[in-house]
Amino acid sequence: MNQQNQSNGTPDKKLRILSGIQPSGTPTLGNYIGAMRNWKLLSNDYDCLYMIADLHSITVRQEPAKLRQQSTQLLALLLAIGLDPEQNILFFQSHVSQHTQLSWVLNCFTYMGEMSRMTQFKDKSAKHSDNINCGLFTYPVLMASDILLYQANLVPVGADQTQHLEICRDIANRFNGIYGNVFTIPEGYFPKFGAKVMSLQDPVRKMSKSDPDDCFISMLDNPDNVRRKIKRAVTDSDAAIAYDPENKPGVSNLLTIQSSLTGEAMDALVDSYAGKGYGVLKSNLTDVIIETLSPIQDKFNQYMNDKSYLETVWRSGAEHASRLAERTLSKVMKKVGFVSK
Ligand code: TYM
Repeated sequence: MNQQNQSNGTPDKKLRILSGIQPSGTPTLGNYIGAMRNWKLLSNDYDCLYMIADLHSITVRQEPAKLRQQSTQLLALLLAIGLDPEQNILFFQSHVSQHTQLSWVLNCFTYMGEMSRMTQFKDKSAKHSDNINCGLFTYPVLMASDILLYQANLVPVGADQTQHLEICRDIANRFNGIYGNVFTIPEGYFPKFGAKVMSLQDPVRKMSKSDPDDCFISMLDNPDNVRRKIKRAVTDSDAAIAYDPENKPGVSNLLTIQSSLTGEAMDALVDSYAGKGYGVLKSNLTDVIIETLSPIQDKFNQYMNDKSYLETVWRSGAEHASRLAERTLSKVMKKVGFVSK
């Protein structure tokens, strides 16, 4: 599903959204454009839960103090992009034990063959060949549990999560086929442009926070860093500014970022660069990125200076999320035949 055919919640009962992000580094402009910005845009019309997927992040080795710091920063960033904790449930995945409980059950309804086909597993095992752990292998089952626990209707994510969403739907359908309608079957929600923001240095690969620093813009990059990174961004061999992701991936990526952040239609944006060179595009884009990130960074700093407020937010988020999660989990436990407590 994309922004064109989004379904609206009914006035009495809004449809539910669940999405998540890993605290495995500072989010990039790719995370923001592909997912987080949509979270904010959708937050008025849906009943939303946004989760910091800390359990997922230990599938790759993390330094404990750094993980804690990045997790707290991520919560501050979610608030800084305008997610109101009164209106949205913001929580840490590790605070809601039902995620791992459901994950065990769903592991028993998922096949090794299905997991072996996951491209992210293949990519990450190649990247971390010294640590191909079972968590990395069953990661999509935990992600399915995140979504199914809350009976989410819609999951706003970037294009790299498509395969994980498909397997989530398969697992849910399989379970429902055996036990009746236990799980809502979720749909993905992707931005029309920017579902896959590409690396600034290698624009045929997605922008990723685990790549070298000059490949991505971090949401906490200062203006000088933004300017330097965009200036050094790879463009294409000819000088024409056109949107053609296949033949001109570098310039198309820069156009995508600008169009996503300003809301300008791609055609109009490309027309506005007629007869101009890459220098103009890069300079405009730099301004747009700085204008987007500066107010977010100001708010981020305010939230980071108020730890007790952050704590209130995560405590209340965990409490609300647990209550909703328990409804689904207890239903699942009963269905599979466990004796009630
Ligand atoms: P993560 O932390 O890798 O990324 C968070 C979100 O950002 C999107 N994204 C991008 N979008 C466009 N261009 C890019 N270059 C780019 N890079 C990342 C991702 O698609 C994602 O939407 N497994 C998830 C976290 C997760 C989750 C969930 C998501 C755990 N449980 C349940 C949805 C529902 C992940 O690793 O996202």
